[in-house]
Amino acid sequence: MIRLAGVSRTFTGRSGAVEALRGIDLDVKEGEFVAVVGRSGCGKSTLLRLVAGLLPVTEGEITVAGKRVTKARRDIAMLFQRPALLPWRSVLDNVLLPAEIFGWRRAAHRDRAQELLDMVGLGGFEKRLPHELSGGMQQRVSLCRSLIGDPRVMLMDEPFSALDALTREELSVELQRLHMENSATIVFVTHSIDEAVLLADRVVVLSPRPGRIREVVDIDIPRPRSLGRDAHLEQVARCSADLHELLMERDTPAAAGEGGR
Ligand SMILES: Nc1ncnc2c1ncn2[C@@H]1O[C@H](COP(=O)(O)OP(=O)(O)OP(=O)(O)O)[C@@H](O)[C@H]1O
Ligand SMILES: [Mg+2]
Repeated sequence: MIRLAGVSRTFTGRSGAVEALRGIDLDVKEGEFVAVVGRSGCGKSTLLRLVAGLLPVTEGEITVAGKRVTKARRDIAMLFQRPALLPWRSVLDNVLLPAEIFGWRRAAHRDRAQELLDMVGLGGFEKRLPHELSGGMQQRVSLCRSLIGDPRVMLMDEPFSALDALTREELSVELQRLHMENSATIVFVTHSIDEAVLLADRVVVLSPRPGRIREVVDIDIPRPRSLGRDAHLEQVARCSADLHELLMERDTPAAAGEGGR
């Protein structure tokens, strides 16, 4: 569904060049849930923005559903690290924004918007403006907006990082349920190893400067999964420990001198 072949991205600015990603090869199957983890600055957001078509690649090629990605597309939804709501529009109108942009019938999507808002605990806030909501509430509105068009591909950049632990866990479980129901293909960036193990079929571990794939770890734990008391605690703990080790490993200094630095 998503295919990256030899993808690199370098940013050039006044202070020199930053090689954010180098030689990324990755195949994400239809309906697969892939989590991406790695230290701050290793290129996770850049990776998502490339796949979303919001940023051109420097080298290599990205295709989604067989078509080369060159610009933003309606079958690809992106949820950003920080909520990006239009401040002058109500909560409901923010959720319905894609319907307007892509010319879908508003009436048909209104009920779905309401359903999504209820799901994330924002029923009753439809008419509020973004500044009247907390950061976590705004992020939940963004989540609803990214789900409104039933996208085939969802790119999520640390969507729950601003939320309290409980809400975060609730939404993870909800996202897992949604994923099991509509089998969208999801790439999910997170700082939380627990979240990656809870949600993903595979976890991509990136190493920093330049961002490269260090390892791809399969998570073979039956669904639905939860972080609470359930039958798979031991497997969850083992996967988490493995990932933790991979992330803590010292990065080989070999590449550090390259890329103009
Ligand atoms: N627009 C840009 N211009 C110049 N450099 C950029 C730009 N965007 C990202 N970078 C650089 O690319 C590298 C990767 O950034 P990116 O935001 O993808 O990291 P990240 O893994 O998402 O980090 P975090 O976990 O903190 O969100 C960083 O070194 C950053 O400075
Ligand atoms: Mg980021």
